[in-house]
Amino acid sequence: MEESLRKIILPAPNDFHVHLREGAILPLALKHTAEVFERAIVMPNLLKPVATVAEALLYKQNIETIWQAISEKKPAEADSPESSPLFSPLMALYLTENTSYEEVQKAAKEPAIIGFKYYPEGVTTNAASGIRQYTRVAAALAAMEEFDMPLLVHGESGGSVDVFDREQHFLDTTLLPLMQKYPKLRITLEHVSSKKAADFVASMQSPALALQACSQQNEGNQNSQNSQRTQRLKATLTLHHLLLTRNDLLGTGIRPHFYCKPIVKREEDRQALLAYARLGHENFFFGSDSAPHPMYAKEAAVGCAGLFTMPVIIENLLKLFEIDADSPKNSLSKRKVRLQRLKAFLVTNGEAHYKLAPNKSFLLVEKHDRAEYIPNFYCFGKNEKDRLVPFQAGQPCYWRFKRILHA
Ligand code: DOR
Ligand code: ZN
Repeated sequence: MEESLRKIILPAPNDFHVHLREGAILPLALKHTAEVFERAIVMPNLLKPVATVAEALLYKQNIETIWQAISEKKPAEADSPESSPLFSPLMALYLTENTSYEEVQKAAKEPAIIGFKYYPEGVTTNAASGIRQYTRVAAALAAMEEFDMPLLVHGESGGSVDVFDREQHFLDTTLLPLMQKYPKLRITLEHVSSKKAADFVASMQSPALALQACSQQNEGNQNSQNSQRTQRLKATLTLHHLLLTRNDLLGTGIRPHFYCKPIVKREEDRQALLAYARLGHENFFFGSDSAPHPMYAKEAAVGCAGLFTMPVIIENLLKLFEIDADSPKNSLSKRKVRLQRLKAFLVTNGEAHYKLAPNKSFLLVEKHDRAEYIPNFYCFGKNEKDRLVPFQAGQPCYWRFKRILHA
């Protein structure tokens, strides 16, 4: 195998949806995130929701201070003066029924605040302060539309709706009417998990296509309004929804480490998500939803939702995009196209949606012959119970990565 097939340099990726938490688990979650990603959108569902600009800026400062301490502690490698990678947390504020017009206006002036996160009440971890009905946050949504603040949506209904139908139900009962009421609002439908939802997002036209359709049909204002609306919905995809189905979760015993919200679905759903990701489709980008929970909280009678996928993301995406150098189908030209699509998924599609400048650093990825093994668990505190089980614990990894400042 040619050496060049074993080495890739990508623009530094973005994680458009991550949970870094607080307390003892934060440094561990942060270290794994900041080593790979130059930017990450940090979710606000802490025990006490991060619901105001002041709280978000404090949380951001905390993250930055911890990252500085971690990177200073790392032994400087002789051949690598660039061993403290850049990391910028982008903060999402927790939308509550008390979020005011003024708070949205204030948030829109802060470049480090990327948008507001909509949790339907009670549907996932720390969602007790979430929204009962979108009409209850009308003033905040109108302000978001006015100030062009993106709305990041956990798209699931709760209550008595069947757990496998919750995404579709939310689309029909909340997302569609919300999009109609706020046609200019930029929306990210987070961690899409079903074929139906993914097809819906994919059907949103790009600005260029919408304009084309508009001029072809020559229907004047009404059509151009429609095209404005259709451009504004994008979606994140997680690694675990690209890899797992409900058979993995439930088919051979209950596997609590595969339990997440939205719950993983059927194989046809997984295939649809994977197809959009692998196309580099412009309406989809990567948001890991890496969500660490202590081992005791996962392996419990009532286990909580979330997978800590962060340590294995790059290795798996290279495999899913068939960029892995050992793939027999991998001619150099095919590999180039696949790399372009991975770049769209991991770097540029989300930057376009969030109107972000390109990152400054790069990610160097190299394939080694010798495997390194993902630990069975990480220790994040002083007590024996402070253990965190990563996704694919015990599995071999062949790709190593390093952030660099020059390509
Ligand atoms: O699986 C999940 N875990 N889904 C979410 O929406 C939240 C997350 C968490 O915070 O643990
Ligand atoms: Zn999440």
